[in-house]
Amino acid sequence: MKKDIRQMHLKTLALYFLILVCGIGLGATLIFCLYSIPLNSKPKQLFTFQIPPTTLEEQPPGLYAINSQVPNQTESTTPTTNNMVSNTTTGIIKEEPKQITETPRPAISSAFLHGMRDEQLFWRASMVPRINKTPFKKIPKVAFMFLVRGRLPLSPLWARFFRGYKGFYSIYVHTQPYFVGEVAPEPMFQGRRIPSEVVTWGEISMVEAERRLLASALLDFSNERFVLLSEACIPLYNFSIIYPYLINSKKTFVECYDKEGPVGRGRYDHKMEPEVTLEQWRKGSQWFEVDRHLALEIICDKKYFPLFRDYCKPACYSDEHYIPTFLNIEFPEVNSDRTLTYVDWSKGGPHPYKFGKWEVTDSLLKQMQNGTECLYNGEPTRVCFLFARKFVPSSLIRLLELAPEVMHF
Ligand SMILES: *[C@@H]1O[C@H](CO)[C@@H](O)[C@H](O)[C@H]1NC(C)=O
Ligand SMILES: *[C@@H]1O[C@H](CO)[C@@H](O)[C@H](O)[C@H]1NC(C)=O
Ligand SMILES: *[C@@H]1O[C@H](CO)[C@@H](O)[C@H](O)[C@H]1NC(C)=O
Ligand SMILES: *[C@@H]1O[C@H](CO)[C@@H](O)[C@H](O)[C@H]1NC(C)=O
Repeated sequence: MKKDIRQMHLKTLALYFLILVCGIGLGATLIFCLYSIPLNSKPKQLFTFQIPPTTLEEQPPGLYAINSQVPNQTESTTPTTNNMVSNTTTGIIKEEPKQITETPRPAISSAFLHGMRDEQLFWRASMVPRINKTPFKKIPKVAFMFLVRGRLPLSPLWARFFRGYKGFYSIYVHTQPYFVGEVAPEPMFQGRRIPSEVVTWGEISMVEAERRLLASALLDFSNERFVLLSEACIPLYNFSIIYPYLINSKKTFVECYDKEGPVGRGRYDHKMEPEVTLEQWRKGSQWFEVDRHLALEIICDKKYFPLFRDYCKPACYSDEHYIPTFLNIEFPEVNSDRTLTYVDWSKGGPHPYKFGKWEVTDSLLKQMQNGTECLYNGEPTRVCFLFARKFVPSSLIRLLELAPEVMHF
């Protein structure tokens, strides 16, 4: 009995000794590691300064001053901490251009731009700064908002269009929520998806998706103009034509017209009275372009949106009526009433014509660019459409071939 107890004590003692030895070993390793960090950190820091030569060429001057990322909850209050790099040899902390630290990061296509649900997103997006002068060098950006089912088949064309203009645009993508693949492989589309919900074409969920895109784009205070595009859209001009056209426009581009018959006034429901009367009811293309002021008004609207949700039911197509009618009632003077997106309805039927691979020719594109006359800031112009639809995925090759000559990009 006593022998057993003595043996047990011995065992415990041995265990304690073992723990002690381990502890000392661990401590020694830790101290060694801590002291060797300054030595190790040098090659690591060199890595962050390695810039792929292509991206540096692509940056127009003066872009580093703006925060290209949409601030999310935690980052928004301390945007500069991410850009700080400490010089371990001198102890000096200096600011590093944000884009440079971002370039080596591997792209994660499934990552969402923000994790906010609608209620929180709209609330945050509705905030307006009361001091007009920005504390950073602000380059107004155009938000390109892609409302797509899944993949963006024409992304190589868009990538060529955007190339070299980083800092002047931002991209937002709303897909069907069940889409799990990659929207587009090009770097400018990485991580630009926003949280989405099921979109039923032609229904109120489509308008909800448009408002979700607008709200997400409003979070970035550099965004001044907001364009809605589909996966079948292409740009008709290069960025150096489209960007100033949008930024300098005194009016917004939401198609808005009054139409008799079943597909126009016929979709109106008298239950919307008195807020919306038959005379105020408007129709237009879903593919709009608005400025920051209208984008904000659209996402904050609590008066008309519920009416369209409740009374613009199937076969009413709220996406063709909600924004045109809302603007017609509240802000008729700021809108040009025309769309920037060319579409061909001449073949008849409920859907616009789809241009196939063999129909894409330079004369077709030139006709889209120069086929009509319209007003821009009060002056007549033949540049009426900046974008065009609908192009099938197989037309990509032809478009890429024709882009340098016809669209100049
Ligand atoms: C903010 O963005 C970062 C990086 O994308 C992410 O890791 C983080 O979870 C986000 N925070 C919130 C609150 O969404
Ligand atoms: C740290 O500062 C020293 C002295 O100004 C400078 O020579 C060195 O290049 C700096 N190192 C880095 C990584 O910026
Ligand atoms: C555009 O069309 C007008 C009228 O048809 C023509 O005079 C002009 O040369 C055309 N411009 C271009 C760039 O094709
Ligand atoms: C953009 O296109 C226009 C003609 O549409 C052309 O004059 C201009 O040089 C192009 N700009 C660039 C940067 O390629």
